[in-house]
Amino acid sequence: VTSDKNAATVLGAGLMGSALVRCLLSRGFKVTVWNRSPEKAVALEAHGAKAAASIDQALSASDLIVVCLAGYHALRAALQPAKAGRLQGRTVVQFSSGIPEEAHQTSTWAETRGAKYLEGAIMAYPRQVGDPRSPILVSGPEAAYEEVRGHLSNFGNLFYLGEAISAANAYDNALLSYNYGCVFAYFQALAFLMAEGVGVEGFGRLVGDFQPVVQDSIELSEAAILKGDYGGAEATLSTHLAALMRSLRSRAATAPTSLRCKTISTISSRRWMRAMVTRSWPRCLRPFERLTCRPLDPQSTASNRDRSGAELETRKRPSL
Ligand SMILES: NC(=O)c1ccc[n+]([C@@H]2O[C@H](COP(=O)([O-])OP(=O)(O)OC[C@H]3O[C@@H](n4cnc5c(N)ncnc54)[C@H](OP(=O)(O)O)[C@@H]3O)[C@@H](O)[C@H]2O)c1
Repeated sequence: VTSDKNAATVLGAGLMGSALVRCLLSRGFKVTVWNRSPEKAVALEAHGAKAAASIDQALSASDLIVVCLAGYHALRAALQPAKAGRLQGRTVVQFSSGIPEEAHQTSTWAETRGAKYLEGAIMAYPRQVGDPRSPILVSGPEAAYEEVRGHLSNFGNLFYLGEAISAANAYDNALLSYNYGCVFAYFQALAFLMAEGVGVEGFGRLVGDFQPVVQDSIELSEAAILKGDYGGAEATLSTHLAALMRSLRSRAATAPTSLRCKTISTISSRRWMRAMVTRSWPRCLRPFERLTCRPLDPQSTASNRDRSGAELETRKRPSL
């Protein structure tokens, strides 16, 4: 274990790994970088990094090991040749994307080798690394998090999600799923306008202006779902369904692959949905229970978070 708290090792000099390296260098850290194809690590020497000649050299250089590789398989492949004991006392922060099962397995794997292990997710593009608005998610043992949060906060707006190791990974996948849903909804909205023959220029900006209404709807939904209280909304389900059915009557709705048409006809044909038209919109979470094949209990999620003693919190980036 080294004693230099100003040192960090980054495993991975791909697009995102390189951005993490450049960010840490710009904030005055001593950065050692390792990459499977050495030339990418060597290229970062021009920015002040030290390219490690071997994985052993990379792991010995710093207590903090930041990992940003193509996936968990790449982390295992990278660390396989390392000498026994090289991870002892190190704090590994794994930013490679994956699924929660991999987070659990890799945490056990790293801890049996004496490492402190945190999961992370970067919810931004490489050029946004270091921007204080970029969400950076972290989960895992709180003591380990406290030791390295000063380093990690340089990457963006740090959200500590609690001790459950898979939380960062699960939130990452949840946010990306939300993102892709939004992007497809945007494409569908464009198709709707084009089918009507009206211009689409400036629509993207209008979507942005509409965003606070959508965000408000999301936050009201979260509150309703957590409380299990689906009454007293701003608009009842029957109002929303009428709006959805109106858009079905238009010319654009004739597109047979329309995701929204399918969604609308599916939810509006459900008998339980017709029985709930006076309830509020978030009651539509119910069909997702069928997709996940398990009851969705927001209260149990909330109490798990309480048990881990970790409320979702935004930590401000310390001034440098
Ligand atoms: N780019 C983004 O916008 C973005 C945003 C958020 C999160 N992420 C996540 O960040 C991670 C890295 O993404 P990236 O954009 O940097 O990808 P990338 O440019 O394709 O880099 C992939 C990295 O993984 C390494 N790698 C792949 N297979 C390996 C193996 N078997 N053994 C050892 N190293 C291996 C590559 O090494 P070589 O150079 O030798 O191929 C390279 O360092 C991914 O998990 C990604 O999901 C990316």
